[in-house]
Amino acid sequence: MKRLILALDVYEKGTALRVARETADYLWAVKVNWPLILGSGLGIIRGLKVETGLPIIADLKLADIPNTNRLIASKVFEAGADYIIAHGFTGRDSVRAVMDLGEVIMVTEMSHPGAREFIQSLTDRLVELANELEPFGIVAPATRPERVSYIRSKLKPGIKILTPGVGAQGGRAGEVLEAGADYIIVGRSIYASENPGESARRLHEEINGGTGDGT
Ligand code: XMP
Repeated sequence: MKRLILALDVYEKGTALRVARETADYLWAVKVNWPLILGSGLGIIRGLKVETGLPIIADLKLADIPNTNRLIASKVFEAGADYIIAHGFTGRDSVRAVMDLGEVIMVTEMSHPGAREFIQSLTDRLVELANELEPFGIVAPATRPERVSYIRSKLKPGIKILTPGVGAQGGRAGEVLEAGADYIIVGRSIYASENPGESARRLHEEINGGTGDGT
């Protein structure tokens, strides 16, 4: 099963397309974030879709009032994104504004140390909001598998859990999948490695219990 998402945090279009092409066989989706959109333009979304045939997640972490979220999301879905990542702490109206236009993945907790300062104290309420709105998925931290199990225990079945933080930030794919994650998001450990295709293949095998199951 394909459960790996490539976080393509590079600036340059040629590099992005090359890494995507080399890794596509092992991915469920490609995630683009501000560095790539600012470096290569919004057209990179369509370019990556054509290059890989995979779903594209636009990780914009939208956190604005409903009207601005709507204006941004509309352009990004139009550009070919299949999913947009939006923050939940701005409230249900801001998230709904994006959900009205397409599939949303909502941030419930973050993977970096600073997440403990503010957002972690809101997780329970953000998970309740996800249960109410039923987005495609939520983002939870691979760096804290115990938080992923906690979130899984509170989250409605069917809402997917996507977990960044494997590799460069210290999280381990096996542990976080066992904790209840559906998808693993990996950036630097793939695109900054000497052989991105080989790094993605190894992660894909680790995710599938070393079976090399290419489905
Ligand atoms: P690395 O290089 O650390 O990249 O493998 C991780 C990617 O995921 C994003 N990221 C997050 N996104 N909540 C999110 O919504 C998080 O907690 C989080 N942590 C990392 C990061 O921007 C990069 O694209």
